[in-house]
Amino acid sequence: MKICVVGLGYLGATHALAMAKLGHEVLGLDLDTNRVDYLNAGKVPFHEPGLQESLREALSEESVTFQTSFEMTEPAAVVFICVGTPQTSSGQTADTSFVFSAGESLAKIILPDTVVVGKSTVPVGTAEALRDQMSEVAGFPVHLAWNPEFLREGTALEDSLNPDRIVIGSWDDYSSQKLKEVYKPILDRGTPLVEVDVPTAELVKVAANAFLATKVSFINAMAEIAEVSGADAVDLAKAIGYDDRIGNKFLRNGIGFGGGCLPKDIRGFVARAEELGAGEAVSFLKDVDAINQRRRARVVTLAEQELGRLNDKKILMLGLSFKPDSDDMRDSPALEIALQLAKAGAEVTIHDPMSLDAMGDKHLELRREHDISVAAKGQELVILGTEWAEYNSIDPVKFGAQVKTRLIIDGRNVLDVAAWQTAGWRLIALGRNVHN
Ligand code: UDX
Repeated sequence: MKICVVGLGYLGATHALAMAKLGHEVLGLDLDTNRVDYLNAGKVPFHEPGLQESLREALSEESVTFQTSFEMTEPAAVVFICVGTPQTSSGQTADTSFVFSAGESLAKIILPDTVVVGKSTVPVGTAEALRDQMSEVAGFPVHLAWNPEFLREGTALEDSLNPDRIVIGSWDDYSSQKLKEVYKPILDRGTPLVEVDVPTAELVKVAANAFLATKVSFINAMAEIAEVSGADAVDLAKAIGYDDRIGNKFLRNGIGFGGGCLPKDIRGFVARAEELGAGEAVSFLKDVDAINQRRRARVVTLAEQELGRLNDKKILMLGLSFKPDSDDMRDSPALEIALQLAKAGAEVTIHDPMSLDAMGDKHLELRREHDISVAAKGQELVILGTEWAEYNSIDPVKFGAQVKTRLIIDGRNVLDVAAWQTAGWRLIALGRNVHN
């Protein structure tokens, strides 16, 4: 099928390439000339495993093209809207202006039988307003459906091609049939299909992210209790996780969740629920957010407890991205802790296998170091902020010979406590009683 994808950020670029992999002919539209030039040159503007290879393959097979102008020489049967819905600068709500401006531009170039599909994460009720706006501009009733995307950074393409489920929300049978054609190869493999009404489809995504955020904050709340009672939150998670009603996934305690989705989605959800007069129903998400923020503050407090006044103290942050295998630093707990420590006067060095160059000229108060053994020299405290696999293979003996003080805070509970302690380190693990 001829498919058009509007918005070539994380979601859109991945979706465009997933569509090409399913055998469709894809046109990607984005107003950002740099991004389009980059993609046409075979380069992905962010790090995501497997995407670069898929882009080169799709370009050489001519199954994908990218452009900035909102025009289609051959009409697409299905157009996906994948633009961003960031948090507004003035408050906690989601900014849907990119969705509506994409809708307005699209309404001028689509045909009455084109199916427009929203994939962006939006406050419930957005789709209906978008359908009305587009129909008015187009001069005919626009077919609009909603089809949330659940991809995770680091496994984005894999998640798109092998989703746990496909959710389709539509007002008419024609639109859902077209979407089922798009996803035929995935559905034929027996992937569950959940057909719902449009408001439910809009809600599914924020509900899933709110649930995941709540799970992480739950275990981080248990870590707070463990810290004042001498219990161990890692063992606790293991013990409750064996109950398959609870499950052991998303129960890793540490410095909390970040990224471009979970934090903004729970805030946007609360704001939308309040607009709808049902704020109380999700007011617990404010606690979920607050628990998450407290974990960041806890690391700063621990640093102060260990080092005294932070002024001129040398601290090394290992890892900056919000999760490993990603160079995304949006709302990253590790980055925020590094900035808070620097603000308190510490001399903070940062190391990350991938994110340092992506920082450009931002946060110059943090000293960047690509070589981990050079970074270690003279440090009085090391903090593990992102659980990159390579940090697990650090030799605590050799590493210990470089630092000034063998003191480490494991913000992700991934280090081998015994090995580090045997090498003479004082190791502080969040939510754990490790008896140094
Ligand atoms: C998330 C959702 O998982 C995905 O379905 C949605 O489409 C987009 O948002 P992503 O932001 O890529 O994906 O990251 P995810 O793997 O969900 O992790 C989110 C954050 O939670 C990370 O900062 C991670 O470090 C943290 N986390 C995760 C924990 O602190 N503990 C855990 O047990 C799991």
